[in-house]
Amino acid sequence: MIERVAEIQKQAEAEISTAATSVALEQLRVKYLGRKAELPQLLRDVAELPAEQRGAVGRSANEARQTLEALIEAAAARFEAEELTAALADDNVDVTLPGSPVEAHGHHHLLSATRREIEDVFCGLGYSVVEGPEVETVHYNFDALNHGPAHPARARSDSFYIEGGGDGSEQTLLRTHTSPMQIRIMEQTPPPIALIVPGRVFRRDSDATHTPQFHQIEGLLVDEGVTLADLKGTLLAFARAIFGADRELRLRPHFFPFTEPSVEVDVSCFVCEQGTVAGGNRCSLCKGTGWLEVLGSGMVDPSVFAAVSEHGYDPESHQGFAFGLGIERIAMLKHGVPDLRFFYENDLRFLRQFG
Ligand code: PHE
Repeated sequence: MIERVAEIQKQAEAEISTAATSVALEQLRVKYLGRKAELPQLLRDVAELPAEQRGAVGRSANEARQTLEALIEAAAARFEAEELTAALADDNVDVTLPGSPVEAHGHHHLLSATRREIEDVFCGLGYSVVEGPEVETVHYNFDALNHGPAHPARARSDSFYIEGGGDGSEQTLLRTHTSPMQIRIMEQTPPPIALIVPGRVFRRDSDATHTPQFHQIEGLLVDEGVTLADLKGTLLAFARAIFGADRELRLRPHFFPFTEPSVEVDVSCFVCEQGTVAGGNRCSLCKGTGWLEVLGSGMVDPSVFAAVSEHGYDPESHQGFAFGLGIERIAMLKHGVPDLRFFYENDLRFLRQFG
């Protein structure tokens, strides 16, 4: 019996030393130490041996088992280390590759998409994007922008005032335009500056072309030597980026309290030829005029600079232009949306057309 134990041990040791993989090693463990293997069986049978043989056989078989267990364990640890090293060497993960793309669910609302499109155009021209408060003081919304005491937008019937917001210029209201940010920006940033300000504005108005809340993008550029030609060139680049490379601009004299001169800006219609569509009919988009009114703008009034002169703006040496456009209006023109209220009704049949 003891010889048989020695034989098994010798054979097992030889095979274990030549095992090439952890799988082969595991097969050897089952073969020599598994439940049906000869050595464990032998150990179980020790109890049935004559008493004088039991001690010696039991000891030798036990030692053989422990030796083989230790050998297998050591070989297994070696394989584990080798296989890990090999797997790591094999596993060339390129951490700079993009991850699996996230499946897109939904898309931007047409107003967000339009805002981003306009922002992209002005960022490309070197403008920064900033935002400002929706609840404004009368000072920033009207006074600092030269609105006279009788300006109609100040009326409670036109604007949303907030109760208990103080008196006079301290009084607060929902901003009626993004222009108050012109003043806030100039108070914080010395010239030269070039910024746009997208945001919500609020007016007491409600019909097919007016909602109590809508969105504007304000633009403000201040430097030395800025002229109306710069304003026109900038807005022409904007109009061509949004409405097509063949667009032309027309400036019409207008009035805003904080720009001088002030202009309303028209873009040549992009669906017709001078007001007439193919077949000779009158264009319904531009109502046969050949022009689409898109925004208000002008050269910053020197009196506005005078009010922020302590912040580095000198009405003698600085010039600037400002413009304010309605995001809804741009989106309606560009996509032929007939009613402003569609933007806010959350009807998926409408929204999904602009994915
Ligand atoms: N704030 C003006 C409006 O809402 C638009 C405007 C902005 C005009 C900047 C001139 C310059 O009507």
